[in-house]
Order: sequence, then structure tokens, then C-alpha cells
Amino acid sequence: MFSIGERLRAYSLLSILEGCAIICGWTMKGIGMNKRPTIMILGTGRALPEKVVTNADLEKIVDTTAEWIQARTGIERRHIAEPGSALSDLAAEAAQKALDDAGVAADEIGLIVFGTVTGDMKFPSTACLLQEKIGAKKAVAFDLSAACSGFLYSSAVAEGLMATSGYKKALVIGGEILTSMVDWNDRNTCVLFGDGVGAVVLGPAKDERGLLASYLKSDGAYSDLLYNEGGSLNPPSAESLAAKKHFIYMEGQEVFRNAVVSMTDALKRVLKEAGMTINDLDLLIPHQANLRIIEAVGKRIKVPTEKVYINVDRYGNTSAASIPIALDEARRSGRIKEGSVVGMVTFGAGFTWAAGIVRL
Ligand code: ACO
Repeated sequence: MFSIGERLRAYSLLSILEGCAIICGWTMKGIGMNKRPTIMILGTGRALPEKVVTNADLEKIVDTTAEWIQARTGIERRHIAEPGSALSDLAAEAAQKALDDAGVAADEIGLIVFGTVTGDMKFPSTACLLQEKIGAKKAVAFDLSAACSGFLYSSAVAEGLMATSGYKKALVIGGEILTSMVDWNDRNTCVLFGDGVGAVVLGPAKDERGLLASYLKSDGAYSDLLYNEGGSLNPPSAESLAAKKHFIYMEGQEVFRNAVVSMTDALKRVLKEAGMTINDLDLLIPHQANLRIIEAVGKRIKVPTEKVYINVDRYGNTSAASIPIALDEARRSGRIKEGSVVGMVTFGAGFTWAAGIVRL
């Protein structure tokens, strides 16, 4: 038993600690006991360019066959932006749909994080251009470069900033006009990619809904397997254009192999963090790069095929846009709804890879 004096001293100490925490802007959550979920998805949207290019169309411009593309990648068609299209215009369409879906006004958005490697210009960021186009006057806006992992990386960064900097509502975008850096004479790459944008509006979590687990990883040792070297090292010049340095270079088989191993690992990690098994997922949304990669990951993680979302046949690889486009499609088609548990996993240049689990 403690004496009254001891109890009073203990109570005073606790009060002092609590006072310090309040002065320093901490909560008990903020001093190392921060429990997910802290953010949830309030709305989603997507935008695709109108033009559709089929495998049969590609047969006419490069040495390939529709059958090869379908059999080796699962892709049947893709949406392609017309030359002169702005990624920020597509993004504004997707963002507005997500805002409408969430019932959130653009000027309520405090933060815009835009995962892309094909922004309108080198600078300013496409996030700033988007901010102006949708009238998100109060937002802090910036781009994030993580190739195909851009959306999950951007979501994690938004989660962190919302937890520490007080932003209540955020817009996270994954979007690319990847065909702007495709060599239409290179059959190894040109058949793979498509254009599009996906958007989500994030807000504070409630009722155990929200981002339950997330994992990000990168390894620059593999940067020479998938790249576009048209940057400061090789500024545009007659020579760099002639050497095709502004196009995508990819060693497909190595990328394939690493994607399968890394995506499987990332999924296992987020399931463990969330205290779940694969059976707890209502839907798995893998990055849509190649149906054979998706099937190989699915086999390793032992997920029933009916739980795996596939739209690579219709869009090809839209890089950072692939997961948010699929998320929006799955929600709007009723495949997932409030309370559904969704796994997401991706892999891209860098290498970068990431996974997340969200309860809608
Ligand atoms: N049409 C016909 N034949 C082709 C084509 C084509 N479009 N492309 C390649 N081939 C040929 C090759 O030349 C090769 O011929 P050869 O045997 O005479 O040399 C043969 O097909 C086999 O080529 P592989 O490269 O071994 O084909 P593979 O089955 O590995 O498929 C592919 C290639 C589709 C690129 C696959 O490796 C892949 O999907 N890799 C991963 C891509 C990826 O996931 N990227 C993600 C990141 S993208 C980003 O971050 C921006």
C-alpha cells in the first residue's frame, strides 16, 4: 500500500509529464505509442486519356504480334495521351472526382502529394500546377519520384505529415503519361505502358477504418536495370536525342524476377504488421505491370485468384497510377465497399517497392 504522500507525489509527477507533453505538442500517441490507423480514404477518382491503342494497332508500328503481347504480359489494350496533353489536366479530372466522392471542397485540402516521374515540366512540380487547376489554395503541394511505387510512397508520406504537421485533409495522386518517354521502335518496352491518373482524398481515421500497415523499401544497386537517363547528367542535346537517352531502358527479365521476390516479401511484412493473414484480405490490388508477375506473386502468397484485382489487360502498366486507378474501379463497381480490407503492393524503378493494407 502507498501512503497518501507517496500517491500525491506520483500524481504530481504524472501531471508534470502530461503538462510537458502538452507544451511540446505531444499526445500519448505521439510519444512512441502512435497506433494505426491515423488516416483513412474519404474518396477516390480516376482519369484515363480517351485514345485506346490495341495490340493489333501496335503490330502495325513495331515488330511484334498481338498474341505475343497478350501471352507474355496479359495486356490487350492501353489508353494513350495525345501529344501535347498535360498530366496536370488528367490529374485535375481525377482529383475533382475524388473530392466529389469524398464530399470535400478543394480549399479544405492542406496537402497534395503527387507520385509521378512524368510531370508536365521539370519544374514547377505537377502538384503545384494541379493545386492551381483545382483551386486548392491552402495546400502545400509537391511531387514525389518513386516510379511505379509513387502512389504508395506518397500515401505514406502524406500519413506522416498529417500525423506531425496537422493537415486534416490530403490529396494523394499517382499519375503518369509514361508513353511520353517510350521509344515506339523498341518492342521490349513500347508494348507495356499506358497513361492515366488515380487520386484519393485522405482524412483522419475513424471506427478502425484506414491505413492499417505500410512498408516501403528501395535498393539503388539495381538502378541500371530500369531507367530514363535524360536528366542533368544528360541534358537534352542533338547527341543525347540521337542516343535515345530520353527513352525508357529496361532489362525486362531481371526486373520481372526482382518484382516477384520483392512484392511477395513486402506483402508478407504488411500482413504481419497488421496481425493478419492473406485470408483476412477482401481484395489484393497488385501493381498492374504484367499478368505473369501478378500470378507469380499470387501463387507465392497463396491468395485465391478471385481475390486479386486485374485490369492490366485494359490499361497496361500505368506506373504510379496503377494502384489508385484499380482502387477507384474496385470501389465504384462495388467489388469493395466500406469495411473491406484491401492489400496493395507494388514494384518499380530504383528499385523501389512498397505495400499497404487499408480498411475502407
Ligand atoms: N514482341 C515480340 N517479341 C518480343 C517482344 C515483343 N513486344 N518483346 C520481346 N520480344 C522477344 C525478345 O526479343 C526475345 O526474343 P529472343 O528469344 O529471340 O531473344 C523473346 O521475346 C523473349 O524475351 P524476354 O525478354 O525473355 O521476354 P519475357 O517473357 O521476359 O517478357 C517482359 C518481357 C514482358 C518485358 C517481361 O520481362 C516483364 O514484364 N518484365 C517486367 C516489367 C515490369 O514489371 N516493369 C515494372 C516497372 S516499370 C516502371 O517502374 C516505370
